[in-house]
Amino acid sequence: MAVRTVDFRSDTVTKPTESMRNAMANAEVDDDVLGYDPTAQRLEAEMARIMGKEAGLFVPSGTMGNLICLLTHCQIRGSEVILGDNSHIHVYENGGISTIGGVHPRTVKNNEDGTMDLHLIEAAIRDSSFEILYPTTRLICLENSHARSGGRCLTVEYTDKVGELAKKYGLKLHIDGARIFNASVALGVPVHRLVQAADSVSACLSKGLGAPAGSVIVGSKSFIARAKILRKTLGGGMRQIGVLCAAASVALQENLVKLEGDHRKAKLLAEELNKIKGLKVDSAAVETNIVYCHILKGSKVSRTHLCKILEQHGILVLPEGPMRIRFVIHHQISESDVHYTVSCLQQTLAGEAEENGDIKHLMNGCILGYRHSIDSLVLDVISMDPPDPKAILLLGDSPNTTALFQLYRFITFSLPAVCDKHIFSQDTIAFLELFSFPIHRNILYVASIIFNTFFGNRNICALYDYTPKITDFMSCNLPEYDSSFDVQQLIL
Ligand SMILES: Cc1ncc(COP(=O)(O)O)c(C=O)c1O
Repeated sequence: MAVRTVDFRSDTVTKPTESMRNAMANAEVDDDVLGYDPTAQRLEAEMARIMGKEAGLFVPSGTMGNLICLLTHCQIRGSEVILGDNSHIHVYENGGISTIGGVHPRTVKNNEDGTMDLHLIEAAIRDSSFEILYPTTRLICLENSHARSGGRCLTVEYTDKVGELAKKYGLKLHIDGARIFNASVALGVPVHRLVQAADSVSACLSKGLGAPAGSVIVGSKSFIARAKILRKTLGGGMRQIGVLCAAASVALQENLVKLEGDHRKAKLLAEELNKIKGLKVDSAAVETNIVYCHILKGSKVSRTHLCKILEQHGILVLPEGPMRIRFVIHHQISESDVHYTVSCLQQTLAGEAEENGDIKHLMNGCILGYRHSIDSLVLDVISMDPPDPKAILLLGDSPNTTALFQLYRFITFSLPAVCDKHIFSQDTIAFLELFSFPIHRNILYVASIIFNTFFGNRNICALYDYTPKITDFMSCNLPEYDSSFDVQQLIL
């Protein structure tokens, strides 16, 4: 039962602010397909100015922006484009350049920092004297910041060098700048300088800037004129888009300045996550607003389990790969949200002590983590998953015996009455009250044996009452099992 939501799934999840909604409501609009929407014209001109290009064009999405740019540069079927094997265009845009545009992709390996080696780009350029066999290279694409590399930035020096290479071979250069403003802020280089070498750029308004929808592509006047026709062909010509452009203009005015703060929060999150046992973040690689967190091999939490627990606490993330979770910061995530997230993860991971092999027997159930008060324990019990556990293990030590006993009574007698929710069926409920025993070094070992013996390892929930002692206990390296210990004495 989460009381707050922290949405790290992407920077695309932001909700329009009050000022954006006001601007949308009052936007001056007209038919943009006919070329008359004044708010769209103003936004396009402003974006072109900021990015140092002659003209701009509002498009519904970053995907369409990239597609229009690539197809405008490669109007002859059978053209080839050089792009990163880990680029958004290649991985996530449905192969649209091929299926719709007849453009052939030639991938070059992306390095961890999102760059492609210059000599590899050069080697990928086709020799035009063999055009009887080869497609014709017409374009090179870069992505800045590079999303799948964790939002790393391509420097202006690197971009210029790729631009020189493109010129040398008579090719065009396109930048997928979905997060070009993040890159510009992180590098401390104005956007127009960062993209100077590019013939076209597609920049998203609905990512870090927080507008509800849209991207703008920029380039020369003649390029944008051709792009406009293609936008209509693809169904991207929309009528009163001033409504969307008005919100985007507010995003530019109000949120550009917040990107630096987003990057600071991302860094903070990365550094704090890195301190948690079982997680690993390359915090030096966190340059903008994306944080990739790896769950270490040998950690007792699976990615799915961790995501589920976070979700129970209202924290939404995107799993990426079997052992990786992605956090993306945006202007609607506060520093306090970051601390809250770190503390939930600390509690979760501490409850699933890595080096204690015995605890894994409890993993088939649901671990509800440490709680400071009976109220928060109760909240967790109400939203328990699985909802009908066979057994509940209450762990605690003597100072908290009373609290745990109250909880026991509450669950057993009061809960069904207060919230018409029968969490436990009468015939399956069973409690093992281990709390009256002082913490024993064998307690987890013992608990796992009991659970295995009596409940077949199914639907077990463990509630850990919070005490420093228990926290230490759960995350500590327990001493070896004491074989002289009598398991039976713990079974009540
Ligand atoms: C680097 C990059 N390029 C392009 C896009 C596509 O943008 P859209 O979702 O607006 O189509 C995204 C979306 O996440 C992206 O991360």
